[in-house]
Amino acid sequence: MAEQWTLPRDAPVAVLGAGLMGHAIAAIFASQGYAVTCVEPDDEARRSLDARMHEVLSQLNAVTPVAQAVTVVEHVSQLDRFTPLVIEAAPELLALKQNLLREVAETCPTAVIATNSSVYRVSDVGALVEDRSRVLGTHWWNPPHLMPLVEVIQGAESNPTVVKGMITLLASLGKTPVHVKKDTPGFIGNRLQHAMWREAMALVQEGICDVEAVDVVARNTLGLRLSAIGPIENADYVGLDLTMSIHEYVFPALSTAQEPLEVLQDAVRHGKLGAKTGSGLLCWSEGRREETKRRIDERLKVLLALQ
Ligand SMILES: NC(=O)c1ccc[n+]([C@@H]2O[C@H](COP(=O)([O-])OP(=O)(O)OC[C@H]3O[C@@H](n4cnc5c(N)ncnc54)[C@H](O)[C@@H]3O)[C@@H](O)[C@H]2O)c1
Repeated sequence: MAEQWTLPRDAPVAVLGAGLMGHAIAAIFASQGYAVTCVEPDDEARRSLDARMHEVLSQLNAVTPVAQAVTVVEHVSQLDRFTPLVIEAAPELLALKQNLLREVAETCPTAVIATNSSVYRVSDVGALVEDRSRVLGTHWWNPPHLMPLVEVIQGAESNPTVVKGMITLLASLGKTPVHVKKDTPGFIGNRLQHAMWREAMALVQEGICDVEAVDVVARNTLGLRLSAIGPIENADYVGLDLTMSIHEYVFPALSTAQEPLEVLQDAVRHGKLGAKTGSGLLCWSEGRREETKRRIDERLKVLLALQ
């Protein structure tokens, strides 16, 4: 293989799963001139794809004739054998992803295969692929067309020239790729995020504060500062001696739970799954979910100066 894997600008790109993540990732590639094929088995998702992609493209101020740029098929077996890049954005179910990657590796024997799993190791998702040198992780953040960062995860067997080429490709799409050098569950962002969510739920479970208070504090403290300064720079900024003495005092009080907290398990047991069922840890009255999505998009656009 050449020094660095490259994808020609008008090359075909396949996206497996045109749901929340897949449709936006497909739209990003389509807007940059790639010929995109989406593999989507669900009738409704296929029917609504054009409108959903159009919305993404209009938010990017790049209204490409999507219908011409994107083909939709129902099954991996319909992909062109010589597709050089396949991005997997199917549901977060390990067995489903493993079988899908095996199928795609057989259908497209030379394709680089990137999984968008949120937490699974690349080596787990690619377990049924014979040649795992062409499998890596590209963890996009939601909404992919607004969030600049993409974690590029190098599996134990990923070819480093493919990883390097993917980083170059994502940068050429205007993204901010970050190289994750070890194949660890949750990569960087989701390890940070779920360490905080564990602590958030522990605060509620231990009766330290009401559920609402956790989010009020997070949004009005860390949330305001984090896009200006990350935890490592912040530790240096306040002083590592101070940071160390805080850690010595506070670490013994932090949650080290090794399984989901009871407050979460209890809600799930009772079918309280959050926005999609009308209640979770909070109450989700009609319209709140849509309002939340709008709020996130608008805030991101302000922060990214897209307005
Ligand atoms: N939602 C997020 O915030 C987010 C963020 C980053 C990464 N991810 C990851 O991205 C992936 C997709 O998540 P999502 O939120 O877009 O899910 P989603 O449920 O919205 O979309 C998944 C799509 O895959 C389709 N699908 C099901 N079986 C398939 C198959 N065999 N072949 C092809 N497509 C199939 C479904 O019909 C659906 O349209 C998951 O691995 C998830 O963990 C999600």
